[in-house]
Amino acid sequence: MASNELTAPLPGPSEPFAFDANAATLAFLQRGFAEYGDVWAIPPSGGEDSATGGGGLPVWVLNEPEAIHEILTRRQPRYGKGVGFERVKMLLGDGLIVSDGAHWKKRRQMLQPAYARPSIAAATGLIRTCIENRAEIWERHAESGEPLDVQDEANRLGLRLILRSVFGDDLETLDAREGGNPFHMIVDNPERDLMFAMRFRQLWPVVRELAEARRARGDQTASDFLGRYMAARDRGTGEALDMEGLVDELMTLLVAGHETSAATIAWAWSLLARHPRVQAELRAEISGVCGEGAPAAEDLRRLDLSHRIVHETLRLYPPVWMFTRRALEDDELAGHAVPAGTQILLTPYILHRHPRLWSDPGSFDPERIPASGIASVRGAYIPFSSGPRRCAGDLFALNVVVQHLAWVAGRYHLGPCDETHAQGGSGPALDPGVNLRALDPIRLVVQRIPT
Ligand code: HEM
Repeated sequence: MASNELTAPLPGPSEPFAFDANAATLAFLQRGFAEYGDVWAIPPSGGEDSATGGGGLPVWVLNEPEAIHEILTRRQPRYGKGVGFERVKMLLGDGLIVSDGAHWKKRRQMLQPAYARPSIAAATGLIRTCIENRAEIWERHAESGEPLDVQDEANRLGLRLILRSVFGDDLETLDAREGGNPFHMIVDNPERDLMFAMRFRQLWPVVRELAEARRARGDQTASDFLGRYMAARDRGTGEALDMEGLVDELMTLLVAGHETSAATIAWAWSLLARHPRVQAELRAEISGVCGEGAPAAEDLRRLDLSHRIVHETLRLYPPVWMFTRRALEDDELAGHAVPAGTQILLTPYILHRHPRLWSDPGSFDPERIPASGIASVRGAYIPFSSGPRRCAGDLFALNVVVQHLAWVAGRYHLGPCDETHAQGGSGPALDPGVNLRALDPIRLVVQRIPT
């Protein structure tokens, strides 16, 4: 391609836009996609390093699957984490999600075994127990007929689950603290404002205390994430994580693992309530594969439709609906020059509903993505990102959501209590914050299935 074509300006609005993780930004990006297509740019606001300025360069908005695939996979070393991550860094320190370069690479290699298939399969029973521990709430709602707020319930389950997976039996120490378990503030405060950030910072010393107590006991055998993270060693030097690194990584895991899985559970049930036929098919699959009992780790893999439902849920409602990258060096993408320093916005929510990539993109059709989660067009389906920086907890998340679908569908039918979840309805309004959640409670009627 001629170099003057490479440097031709990208289409886009003439004014800068102060984007953030909010509904106004999603609406702006949807309008931009409709008007300018797969690759467009937002003019810089002028600030050297401002959230919208991109260091004086236009901010790219990319919904072209092949270019996305390139950035995330083959050319991953040329792209670091982009705008927005510095704020997350204030909350999470230098954990896997925000770190970059050699530091990230070393950590990811150290911690990867904690997320390997055998470790996650071994957690199947623990996940099941956490789900079963919520039985009384489901029974109570089935008994009374009072609709259950599935979003709130999924959040509470998600928090207990991640705390139990990280701290194992030490969770009892947390629960026994004066004033209650300090982590419960995460689910008791749905707002994600400055006040939340300040309260969240107070969890830091709590995690450190638990890690130090475990280390002081000399307990090296626990198979929870804390134990596995403490046992992690650098391949080259044999070094373990120091206490600061350990706490950063544990906080990262707690945050990354909790709301994302919870949102997926909530959206899956929202969709299944709107699509009772699919819910019935799910129930048939569960009883065919698991009978009356709990699915063992091997059974989970055979739950083909269940996995398809989860992937179709993640397509329509990707919890990480937007994320960013920054070009570390000059590059070329989709026929355009990318100067070093360019910020790039990736929006799974918009990409997953791209009319060229998906037929009838707004409809719920679990047939379209195979149980493996590998869509036919590469770069078109990225709920967990892709390549070396793909979500470390994807197998864990799939295990959790599929087990939840199996447990609930084996016992109850979830139906609408109002128009929002009427059959074939468009569902709740969105709250595109840090994660994509429903703006209002997802209230569903829980009906016991006659045995
Ligand atoms: C459905 C649930 C989940 C979704 C949709 C999801 C999505 C993502 C995405 C999109 C990223 C990449 C972000 C980026 O590159 O900018 C990511 C990274 C990550 N996720 Fe998840 N996640 C989920 C569950 C989990 C769980 C359960 C855990 C832990 C148990 C986890 C741990 C991580 C970690 C550690 C990273 C950073 C990986 C790295 O950069 O090396 N995630 N996740």
